[in-house]
Amino acid sequence: MPLSFFRHLNCFNCFRREQPEVIIATSTSYGNDSASRSAASLEKHRSKLSSEKIVIETRPSSPPRTNPALLVVGKRQYDIQESYPFPTLAHEGEVIVRTKAVGLNPIDWKSVEYGFCLPEFPWVTGREMAGVVEKVGSGVTDITVGQRVWTSTYYRDRRAGCFQHYVTVPQHTVLPIPTGMSFEEASCLGVAALTAAMSLWHWLEVAGSPTTEPQTIPKSGYLLIWGGSTITGQFAIQIAVLGGLKVIAVTSSKTAEVAKRLGASHVVIRDGKSGEELVSEIRAIAGDELTRGIDLVGPETASLCLTAFSTTQRVLFAPLAMISSKAEVPQNISVETVEMKQFVLNESSQAYAHALNRLVEQGKLVLPELTVLDGGLQRVVEGLERIKKGDMAGKKVIVRM
Ligand SMILES: NC(=O)c1ccc[n+]([C@@H]2O[C@H](COP(=O)([O-])OP(=O)(O)OC[C@H]3O[C@@H](n4cnc5c(N)ncnc54)[C@H](OP(=O)(O)O)[C@@H]3O)[C@@H](O)[C@H]2O)c1
Repeated sequence: MPLSFFRHLNCFNCFRREQPEVIIATSTSYGNDSASRSAASLEKHRSKLSSEKIVIETRPSSPPRTNPALLVVGKRQYDIQESYPFPTLAHEGEVIVRTKAVGLNPIDWKSVEYGFCLPEFPWVTGREMAGVVEKVGSGVTDITVGQRVWTSTYYRDRRAGCFQHYVTVPQHTVLPIPTGMSFEEASCLGVAALTAAMSLWHWLEVAGSPTTEPQTIPKSGYLLIWGGSTITGQFAIQIAVLGGLKVIAVTSSKTAEVAKRLGASHVVIRDGKSGEELVSEIRAIAGDELTRGIDLVGPETASLCLTAFSTTQRVLFAPLAMISSKAEVPQNISVETVEMKQFVLNESSQAYAHALNRLVEQGKLVLPELTVLDGGLQRVVEGLERIKKGDMAGKKVIVRM
């Protein structure tokens, strides 16, 4: 990393190093003070001090605190920087969390591979983590130093990227870790679980929302999850079932059991079948009652979902893994754009995270099986490669820091 890079960073307020200078006043004749000295004798010492020579010693300042980070330094280029600067708070409502575990997600490798959600280089990615509160701003009321917490972050602030030892985020995005939960388990709540919760409760009007959502479609019926064994799909199945819906999940035969176990009433196995065959199977199950859906695979399957839905009732559809701008959307279908950045930008979204925590506390949500990589930042890229291969079979990849 060129030196000019660090000079450049020093221009940013948010990366200013803290270098406290310690100045100690000592007297040449009082090297052996007793802690139990009385007030009277203190007074005596004070007057003696004033008449004697006072030496001001400057202790060498302690080395600046660092914040080891995995930096994205260019397209498909990473670099671990051990001496990355410790962050500073930009305002009184912020919290710095010491990372204990990070969850890895497809967006993390996709953004580096295809060059999006990276405002500039170097940048820090990573969208979910769990850890211990290190520092809070003076306006932080609900979170305390030392507390075990999880968070979900947004790519616009480099300090909020989770692939670093200290992550700085606004207080409303910091949630207590539910009782009995490990850092590793809590680190997978911030993306897949929260996305499933907000998509279903807010955008798809599924019952169970902690806020009062407008109800424009029936409370019952079927919800289609194309990609039912994805990590997001696993949370979505459970939240939909809790909301009283019947779930149709599309998976491979390898992961069908995962979707069944979590409560999908029907699993459509995709192995060796054409899109049209899969849609016929789905329509044979739901008839014209399929009024909600999420796609977790991509534009092709998102288009297939459109042909599986009810043709007569109002339908809400969230294509979470993109939809082609050329996709033909029938008039009765409303394509919902899920914006997870709302969790960070809109403080009231915290209600969804608290509701998620409650479900976990009550034992109503089963977490995905975890694959935990030990070794900190050094293992992140390897973990992302594993997700990219797509053969995790429903297991969530976590890196322990
Ligand atoms: N918009 C947002 O804010 C947001 C948030 C979260 C996730 N997402 C997106 O949602 C997608 C899923 O994310 P994730 O982390 O939950 O995924 P993931 O767990 O990494 O997905 C892997 C799973 O996808 C399944 N899969 C692959 N091809 C499939 C196909 N053709 N049909 C059905 N299932 C298939 C595989 O299971 P089988 O092969 O066994 O079926 C595999 O277990 C990603 O594209 C991600 O970027 C978007």
